[in-house]
Amino acid sequence: MRFLLINGPNLNLLGHREPGLYGSKTLKSIEADLQETAHLDGVELDCFQSNFEGALVDRIHQAMGEVDAILINAGAYTHTSVALRDALLGVDIPYVELHLSNTNSREEFRHHSFLSDRAVGVVSGFGAMSYELAFRGLLAHMRK
Ligand code: DQA
Repeated sequence: MRFLLINGPNLNLLGHREPGLYGSKTLKSIEADLQETAHLDGVELDCFQSNFEGALVDRIHQAMGEVDAILINAGAYTHTSVALRDALLGVDIPYVELHLSNTNSREEFRHHSFLSDRAVGVVSGFGAMSYELAFRGLLAHMRK
């Protein structure tokens, strides 16, 4: 099985960016840890990060026929992007939405997600562990 992990804008700054909210782990180390976990479960994990909405849309299109399932932390685009929603629905690949912070306990504009109603599930608020929990949930779903 092959999964794709997508990270959206500003997540390349993890480790430096608002550590009180997002923790001190870098994206590189989150990706490396998840790749190790995935490998132990026999899953190949590709990782992609971009600050550009169109590049994220292109990567989702590219996943068609290549990837079985997607883990996505779309960052701020979660709350704004109809294009990302349409791309995910368009390729028809199951996905889990994830966030390091609990977006529902933050500003009101973070309470709405364009992705969550069609996601297999949503994981939010567990810091770097959200990635691991999202992976576990998605894998269980795919093995059902
Ligand atoms: C985030 C939450 C978003 O609201 C925010 O814009 C981010 C990070 C998270 O992982 O907690 O960039 O997706």
